[in-house]
Amino acid sequence: MDYHRNQHARQLFDGIAAQYDWVPGLFSFFQYQRWRRYLVSRLQAGPDATILDLCTGTAGVAMQTARTYDCRVVGVDLSPKMLSQARHNLSRDDMAGQVPLVMGRAEDLAFAGDSFDAVSVTFLLRYVDDPESTMLEIIRVLKPGGRLLSLEFGVPPHPIARVLWHVYTRGVLPIAGTLVSRGWRKVGAFLGPSITQLDKSYNEDKLRELWLRLGIQDVQIKRLSFGGAVVMWGTKGR
Ligand SMILES: C[S@@+](CC[C@H](N)C(=O)[O-])C[C@H]1O[C@@H](n2cnc3c(N)ncnc32)[C@H](O)[C@@H]1O
Repeated sequence: MDYHRNQHARQLFDGIAAQYDWVPGLFSFFQYQRWRRYLVSRLQAGPDATILDLCTGTAGVAMQTARTYDCRVVGVDLSPKMLSQARHNLSRDDMAGQVPLVMGRAEDLAFAGDSFDAVSVTFLLRYVDDPESTMLEIIRVLKPGGRLLSLEFGVPPHPIARVLWHVYTRGVLPIAGTLVSRGWRKVGAFLGPSITQLDKSYNEDKLRELWLRLGIQDVQIKRLSFGGAVVMWGTKGR
């Protein structure tokens, strides 16, 4: 198995963990929190539910989910430093018992099949070699009838928004990243091209087709911020 992309993701996110709780908000003109809120609002969970939050990072989505639905959320990520920041955030808000954290890879989850009532996954597909087998692995741990949710960056479809997005991601972000730290400089240079690449290989229609083929039903898609973010959700067939 080729762990090259995992290593790249680990290095990239270890290098930005210390500032992760405020920089994405700033760089997205405070849309980031809105995207997370929308994602969490698409969940359906009661207090008895156990939810898997993949790519949990510093546990932003996991904490919001746990607060909104008063349920248990298991956070999984491969970056030790993102998880360490998550641990800090959880103990600060007295939520460590409600949101246990596990270090792991989305491609190879250490959970039995049909374990979780819902699974949320954020910004993963640009970091995996094989999106299809990774999605299959994620769906494996979801209970039949459970909801799958994802949040990814997207390329705005409207021509004017697309030009502005291009100028921002290729011209402004790399410079803005440099002003924060060496780690953010790398992210600023990497982000735009990697979003374009994913959009070319897995656009909205292809992703919908993939989810349906892998057994997710009633797939719905909402573009936010002129299409700069894409939230998808659907239900695993029984
Ligand atoms: C943009 S951050 C996610 C942020 C977070 N969910 C939030 O609430 O803001 C993406 C995360 O995905 C993690 N990641 C990347 N590839 C992964 C993989 N193959 N398996 C598990 N986590 C991965 C990174 O370490 C990083 O923390």
